Amino acid sequence: MAFVSDRLILFGATGDLSRRMLLPSLAALHADRLVADDLRIVGTARSAHDDQSFRAFAAEALAEFLPAGQLADADIASFLDRLTYQQLDASDPAGFAALADKVGPVNDGLSIFLSTAPSLFEPTIAGLAAAGLAGDRVRIGLEKPLGTDLATSCQINDAVAAVFPENRIFRIDHYLGKETVQNLLALRFANILFEPLWNAQHIEHVQITVSETVGLEGRVGFYDGAGALRDMVQNHMLQLLALVAMEPPANFDATAVRDEKVKVLRNLRPVAAGDSVTGQYGAGAIGGQAVPGYDEELGKASDTETFVAIKAHIDNWRWKGVPFFLRTGKRLPERKTEIVIQMRPVPHSIFAASGASAQPNRLIIGIQPRENIRFTVMAKVPGLDRGGLRLREVPLDISLPDAFAGPKRRIAYERLLLDLIEGDQTLFVRRDEVEAQWRWIDAIRAGWTQSGLAPKPYTAGSWGPSTAVALAERDGVSWHD
Ligand code: BG6
Repeated sequence: MAFVSDRLILFGATGDLSRRMLLPSLAALHADRLVADDLRIVGTARSAHDDQSFRAFAAEALAEFLPAGQLADADIASFLDRLTYQQLDASDPAGFAALADKVGPVNDGLSIFLSTAPSLFEPTIAGLAAAGLAGDRVRIGLEKPLGTDLATSCQINDAVAAVFPENRIFRIDHYLGKETVQNLLALRFANILFEPLWNAQHIEHVQITVSETVGLEGRVGFYDGAGALRDMVQNHMLQLLALVAMEPPANFDATAVRDEKVKVLRNLRPVAAGDSVTGQYGAGAIGGQAVPGYDEELGKASDTETFVAIKAHIDNWRWKGVPFFLRTGKRLPERKTEIVIQMRPVPHSIFAASGASAQPNRLIIGIQPRENIRFTVMAKVPGLDRGGLRLREVPLDISLPDAFAGPKRRIAYERLLLDLIEGDQTLFVRRDEVEAQWRWIDAIRAGWTQSGLAPKPYTAGSWGPSTAVALAERDGVSWHD
């Protein structure tokens, strides 16, 4: 497995993900000499392009999505020289021979990045196999959505598994490529401080919030068929939850880390009726700017949820009785991904007689856009305490950009593309994980159908429907807004 591919094929090369993320990431890796000189990148998609016009397309994408001045003109020019293009209708098996010709010999290793419509997965895999693009030295990266439920996900996984063994399949969850998500593991397992407290005895509840200010963003066809549960919870949020909750893996390697994550995912308790809330945004304002409602953006009424909040439980020894509150939504007041670990109160307050109350400690892990770790501790308010000792909560705040001012910040896809090219699966999702995720999600959706749960309206720019507040309040919990 330890080969470094010198060929990369980008399926969906003219799509949005490619323009926004993949081409800019590859260009940045190129400029920093992180990919080998002989790496050749072949773009493929249905659009008509030749090498020259694809390079022009890529140049435009870089101009639009790379921060101005980040790359030198000479680096951009030499990056574009790596690119070639083969037009391909993946539903037509005949086209794959020409793709194979374009790619050339793959005995030194080929990595494939597949981000196409789910309906094209199976024909693409079959086409690759028939054209000799699936041999021992070929790896495949799969971008979501990998199915819409357990059954369709298994179908895709089976089709891929018929051609590629699991150790050459790289399922992408781009949250795992985020620096601060990986830092969760460093925080938990490279410090002695947290692990002894990281359990039901000391943690009262956990909150995971992934809020976005954007709405549909023109992704009408995809999003309306998916909804927040499948778009965000099934993958990104459950991966965050697994990293927070898993047992310490013995090593930081693909098998050990994924073995521990999957145990958490398998132990998720089916969500009780009433422990999930859905919402859909109506017209409102974000940052002082009026925005339309979901229906209006979509052009028709819909019962797709753009917000979901869930009270989850993990049925194992460590997490017995600790609720994990998850919430995600579009058109919320701010963009933030954050994990809150709420500790339990001290068992006995020696300060009670003076009327001072000790707030339980709280660890707040900012994933994005603020990358920080904040731990609240109780401190004595300075003074002579004639009226009794007073306590106040003060934060210990570590801003990661300040702590690491030197190292360059990289976007998730830089890391993931490099790991794909070099063959490190640690930050990719294994089949058993994806399937455990779907099993839990499918049961939630079945519950919604059974109970006729329809999304509650919320005003764009608010924190979702009031029922989400009530869901947490039932347990005496307030969302950390
Ligand atoms: C994607 C979802 O997987 O993640 C989008 O399909 C969402 O709906 C996006 O906007 C959020 O990613 P990030 O990295 O901006 O938090």
